[in-house]
Amino acid sequence: METEQEIEKQREYIVKVKEINKNKKLKYSILTMGCQLNENDSEKICGMLEEMEYTKTEDQKEADVTVFNTCCVRENAEDKLFGKLGELKKIKEAKGTIIAIGGCMMQEKHITDKIKESYPYTDIIFGTHTLHKFPENLYKVLEEKRKQEDILDIEGKIYEGLPIKRDSKIKASVTIMNGCNNFCSYCIVPYVRGRERSRTPKAIIEEVKDLAKQGYKEITLLGQNVNSYLRAEKNKKTLELSILSEQKYKENEQANVKFEEYEGVNSFATLLKALNKIKGIERIRFVSPHPKDFTDDVIEAIATCDKVCKLVHLPLQSGNTKVLKEMNRKYTKEQYLNLVEKMKARIPNLTLSTDIIVGFPGETKEEFEDTLDVVRKVKFEQVYMFIYSRRVGTLGDNMENQIPDEIKHKRFDKLKTLVESQIEENNQKYVGTIQKVLVEGTSKNNEEMLTGRTDNNKVVIFEGDKNLIGKMIELKIVSEHMWYLKGNM
Ligand code: 5AD
Ligand code: SF4
Repeated sequence: METEQEIEKQREYIVKVKEINKNKKLKYSILTMGCQLNENDSEKICGMLEEMEYTKTEDQKEADVTVFNTCCVRENAEDKLFGKLGELKKIKEAKGTIIAIGGCMMQEKHITDKIKESYPYTDIIFGTHTLHKFPENLYKVLEEKRKQEDILDIEGKIYEGLPIKRDSKIKASVTIMNGCNNFCSYCIVPYVRGRERSRTPKAIIEEVKDLAKQGYKEITLLGQNVNSYLRAEKNKKTLELSILSEQKYKENEQANVKFEEYEGVNSFATLLKALNKIKGIERIRFVSPHPKDFTDDVIEAIATCDKVCKLVHLPLQSGNTKVLKEMNRKYTKEQYLNLVEKMKARIPNLTLSTDIIVGFPGETKEEFEDTLDVVRKVKFEQVYMFIYSRRVGTLGDNMENQIPDEIKHKRFDKLKTLVESQIEENNQKYVGTIQKVLVEGTSKNNEEMLTGRTDNNKVVIFEGDKNLIGKMIELKIVSEHMWYLKGNM
């Protein structure tokens, strides 16, 4: 209720700003860093801006409002932001552009301090828990000519019903939960996104039904740890109920179950099953699950739901048990490999992608070899590789024996060489096969060609009529080219 009132209030600000901007033909630009969750947040920022009479431009010079939606998972994003802010100074002086910076990096005090000191011409700073208040903050800058700093340290609530302008008309992201309780020792996310909290099954199902109605074919469920969807809510319930009398416990349990469940959804597995039934949606993906929470019911749901893609992203991070322990990942090399075996046995045609960090503090040459060993064994479809980056405030940052940059880079190159050789080999297996492809649009490099993706997210380029865009078609794969396949109708 409280959150509904808050959104209502923001809608009033949207109307006020819209009134101010009427007939001015104003523009906005937005730069999004980081993960798909951030991209989904940016779609909401765009939604709010468009309702306030701004139209999007890719050219920062002509924007009246410029938004940066930041990430802080690795340090290169910081350099990028500061570089961009420097470039904007002249534009701001000439045009009076309103500069707004939001997202994960703004939850770090040393960053906001630096912005206020070195880039004082920034108008709005907002964090991960105050995105929904963007209309209010913008109004105050426009009307009251006051700079706004709007950052909450405590857990944000879940706000439903923000406007949204999606990047695609075919594929849509749906955030199902936010925050993380895992505290992997290299990771800043739990500090900047707060504790886990899930959207209600009802809100998610209704959003997906609405997407299907609009013609969307593919959805990607997003969360820092999707397979603990609703876990925190259930734990909270148990915690609250344990202090009540038994009679009350029973009453409340029923009341709570009624409140939580919708179409039988009370976990990630049941959510997949419910979404699988929605007519019009043809593909369901999700990122990212945590290997330690990959329960049998989720494996079963992937196996039995025809729309759930058989490419699963399963972040490994390291293939060495000691490093995994230091990383606080709560699984061993063997447990990871056993999980992969179990999944492959139950899910026909399963392929996997993963995240790997090289050069975590203390990682020895031999321990790094274990990572290569797992990569060789699992033969991932895709590997996202990262060089360990120290994040202020994390346990990893305080560890001694940080690995010198040179060694980190060498290990990265070695891993990259292995991964690329595997991809080439792996791509061969597609040549000559028939693949179901969801056609996404024209190819970026060649307007004459169309591009789409297979179930396991491989890009396929092919010749075809533009009215195929948005359709699921079958293509014969004729050749492979490292990052894409070529197909024929
Ligand atoms: N350094 C390098 N990579 C990191 N990741 C998270 N934190 C760090 C860090 N400090 C990687 C992990 C995660 C992905 C989203 O980013 O592999 O899965
Ligand atoms: Fe970071 Fe680990 Fe949480 Fe993923 S599970 S967001 S890596 S702390």
